[in-house]
Amino acid sequence: TDFDLTLHNGRIVTAEADFIGDIGIADGVITAISTTLPAGRRAIDATGRLAMPGGIDSHCHVEQLSSMGVLCADDWHSASISAAYGGNTTIVPFAAQHRGQSLRQVADAYAASAAEKSVIDYSYHLIISDPTPETLNRDLPELIRAGITSFKVFMTYDKLKLDDRQLLDVFAIAAREGALPMVHAENNDVISWIARHLLAAGHTAPKYHAVSHDPIAESEATQRAISLAAVLEVPVLIVHVSTQGGAQAIHAAQTLGAPVYGETCPHYLLLTAEDIDIPGVEGAKFCCSPPPRDPASQQALWQSLNSGTLALLSSDHAPYRYDESGKLPAGDATTFKQIANGLPGLEVRMPLLFSEGVRTGRLSLQQFVALTSTNHARMYGLHPKKGTLSVGADADIAVWDPEKAVTLRAADLHDAVGYTPYEGLEITGWPTTVISRGEVIIDDGALHAERGRGRFIARGLPAPLQKTREISPRAALLRKIFPAVIEP
Ligand code: URP
Ligand code: ZN
Ligand code: ZN
Ligand code: ZN
Repeated sequence: TDFDLTLHNGRIVTAEADFIGDIGIADGVITAISTTLPAGRRAIDATGRLAMPGGIDSHCHVEQLSSMGVLCADDWHSASISAAYGGNTTIVPFAAQHRGQSLRQVADAYAASAAEKSVIDYSYHLIISDPTPETLNRDLPELIRAGITSFKVFMTYDKLKLDDRQLLDVFAIAAREGALPMVHAENNDVISWIARHLLAAGHTAPKYHAVSHDPIAESEATQRAISLAAVLEVPVLIVHVSTQGGAQAIHAAQTLGAPVYGETCPHYLLLTAEDIDIPGVEGAKFCCSPPPRDPASQQALWQSLNSGTLALLSSDHAPYRYDESGKLPAGDATTFKQIANGLPGLEVRMPLLFSEGVRTGRLSLQQFVALTSTNHARMYGLHPKKGTLSVGADADIAVWDPEKAVTLRAADLHDAVGYTPYEGLEITGWPTTVISRGEVIIDDGALHAERGRGRFIARGLPAPLQKTREISPRAALLRKIFPAVIEP
């Protein structure tokens, strides 16, 4: 009962519980949770506020080169600060391999930069775009064993996409080594076929980005990714689901007992393709892949979050400034094909879900915690160190004022992007105190966190791979014969 820090009389909400009480912290971990605790060396009165696990944003792009060669506006320092202001205590962005690059070298450089700059704890996923024998046989297994237990692969973008045979290769490694594959599921040929004919017909405005990314490109690729994963009976996570068809494919697989998981993002709940349809090129601010859809899709996605079909709400923060360093290509011959893809959202992810999800009654507070923190910890091997409030867990806590009214303004956010798709939106609820490993890093709008204080978290086995499930003799044979041959 010798606490460095205590939180008193807060409404403690986790994915499992909801009660008024105190939290005691010593040496960076939670050492007591009870109805009343003696005050520690520092004591915070949380009366009228919510004490919840710090958010985990497991899909964000930081200090990364896009497939078009555009560098993110946020580095590990600005991204981690922005994340912290939005109630996050852990981020998991991507070390991206581009073709011709050594996965090991990419990962090591990324890790070094994170260690130097991040103000909150972190891990990272890998992006695999060049599954050479060296990548598959050496680098990827070694990195997985070092605690990088997830990787993303793309079915679209000419310079990143894997074909079906390559997807099977990386899925086989995931099954053998214990990693979770994350798939960007859009049919590349459908998108490029539509785009080519749109451009030839003179349809170049940003709004045609959404036309080219037809919903069927997503549902078809989602179905195919699920099928390919089923060949080897390996778990798979479909990221940034934006359509009812995508969500339905995931739900259908889950109904059959397949280990298939889904993620969506705030912009698919709150924006539509209409937001892109503004005069000039300003619609570029809303161009991401997949694109925002329509009200029926929004409805389906809220429903899927509520039912558990989609387990994760991530930002997919892809920070590009609205200028020639980011969104817009140099010169004036802009077509929708030249716009950097992605929206900022690291800082507003949780406040948006709180205001638009919890306060509207679409989701419970406990679902909010699961969707923004606990499920991410389980999905990516961070639980129970992260993602929950329990004795022994890291003291990563966001204290929210559920009544705080905020008008979103890019000027008030802490990323390096300079605009927000939600400019002027009035929301209610904001994290006012953020605690990372027992240190108060955000307090009433002020940052108290040194560059580089964040720690790398070596991740364990993702929960989808922990469950001992029966593998059919067919899948067992297919896993066993791999990787006898990996042809270039
Ligand atoms: O448009 C997006 N989402 N850009 C970021 C990269 C990705 O595909 O997640
Ligand atoms: Zn993606
Ligand atoms: Zn992304
Ligand atoms: Zn202070």
